Amino acid sequence: MIPKMLIHRPRRLRKNKIVREMMAETRLSKDMFIYPLFVTNGKKVKHAIDAMPGVCHFSPDTLIIEVEYLLQLGINKILLFGVGEKKSPKGKSSFSAKSAVANAIIALRKAFGDSLYIITDVCMCAYTNHGHCGVIEKEEVVNDASVEILAKMALAHAKAGADMVAPSDMMDGRVAGIRKKLDENGYSNTAILSYSTKFASAYYGPFRAVADSAPQKGDRKSYQMDIRNASEALRESLLDEAEGADMLMVKPALAYLDVIQTIKSNSLLPLACYNVSGEYSMVKMAAQNGLVNEQAIVMENMYAFSRAGADIIITYHVKDMLEQKWL
Ligand code: PBG
Ligand code: ZN
Repeated sequence: MIPKMLIHRPRRLRKNKIVREMMAETRLSKDMFIYPLFVTNGKKVKHAIDAMPGVCHFSPDTLIIEVEYLLQLGINKILLFGVGEKKSPKGKSSFSAKSAVANAIIALRKAFGDSLYIITDVCMCAYTNHGHCGVIEKEEVVNDASVEILAKMALAHAKAGADMVAPSDMMDGRVAGIRKKLDENGYSNTAILSYSTKFASAYYGPFRAVADSAPQKGDRKSYQMDIRNASEALRESLLDEAEGADMLMVKPALAYLDVIQTIKSNSLLPLACYNVSGEYSMVKMAAQNGLVNEQAIVMENMYAFSRAGADIIITYHVKDMLEQKWL
């Protein structure tokens, strides 16, 4: 039966591409994206990583070449991770003025000045021999002693020239600790992007292989959040807002769209989400095996993050997105 008197016909506004483009409620721009990069000390390193197709380790010299290319593509915000550093119980190498991250910042700033916005991950797990994100005393990851080291690490990055520091450890009070340390040392303009709501997720698997940062013993559940908790997820972000974070983050992204939406509607701060390594590698592997259309599925995920309320998206996919002109 053909319905003749149908008043509501939503399909009218889907008639062709022109009207669909006009009606789009969510739009993406390259300015929303942050690209993560892994940096190590040494020279001429460009080491591909099996667990994450398309992702490499770079030394400062090869990083310059890569970033020059990224800038041409339109990527001007990067998130730096240090790998391959000397590991010790208290992760001392994390706040060295000569860390791979510090060296990379100095080299990048020299090469690109302020045309590149540099964000650094602040966490100890790639620098401790036990692989935890804080200091261990009597088998326990202790909070306040860890915050002290994280603040030193943030300061070292700020001194090297980072625009923004991003603590990913999930210790209590670390945003306040870092803010105080930065302010006391004259870095009141260095911004803090807090990994404010970070879950103890299995989606970080490939990253830990890349960064060599898996815990030797136990898991991260005494500091990262329980995946079952939504109220606590909001509480964590609101606490970091109160401590002085400039931006909040939900991590991972795909399995936590509800959390993105809740935080967005309860805070006035800009909100980022981190589309993490496991989410990336699952899409890449499925695409390589012909199971999904990579462009379609990547863009579907990006629109989902934005629709849920993410203002900023941290993703390994953005290089492909711009190279292939998906955006
Ligand atoms: C360090 C850190 C991790 C990630 C970002 N910073 C790993 C972890 O917490 O184990 C994960 C990023 C990704 O999976 O892409 N604490
Ligand atoms: Zn960590």
